[in-house]
Amino acid sequence: MKRILKRRVLIPVFIIVFGLIQFKTIDKVNMVVPAEFGILTIETPPKEVGELISAACFDCHSNTTKYPWYSNIAPVSWWMKKHVEKGREKLNFSKWSDYSEEKRDSLRLKSAELIEKKWMPIISYKIIHPEAQLDEDQRELLISWMKK
Ligand code: HEC
Repeated sequence: MKRILKRRVLIPVFIIVFGLIQFKTIDKVNMVVPAEFGILTIETPPKEVGELISAACFDCHSNTTKYPWYSNIAPVSWWMKKHVEKGREKLNFSKWSDYSEEKRDSLRLKSAELIEKKWMPIISYKIIHPEAQLDEDQRELLISWMKK
């Protein structure tokens, strides 16, 4: 009885619901922001620092988000979109020119702090993106540049 319920009801219901939620897609269009408004142009970090920030932070904290293939699959897509929206709202490296001098300083300090604590990049992201896993030296490099 239990097995029949599972095969005849639960699995089909799951498949139908999974199919239906696919219709709720996410908006993956990145609003184009000229490079001169971004942190890489304004602060001109050393090449390696720039590459690390791009690889480890830009997917959520810039307008150059790269969406992988699984970002097409709900509910993973919704969850990723939330991260990008929240991340950009708090800190958008593409719109560095919008921030005042004080705001920039506080965002840099906060970045250094969160990298040090290994809270950024967020852990689920690091698991999927090996290029965003910072080793000790890379973390040190980023932290010291952010604190400058
Ligand atoms: C997978 C997405 C993702 C990545 C990658 C990521 N972040 Fe974040 N970041 C977030 C989200 C989401 C928040 C907002 C957290 C909250 O408030 O709940 C956040 C918050 C922050 C904040 C706090 C801003 C504030 O004013 O509170 C800083 C600073 C920050 N991130 C820096 C970084 C840095 C530096 C990197 C790269 C080393 C990075 N993040 C990588 C998603 C990400």
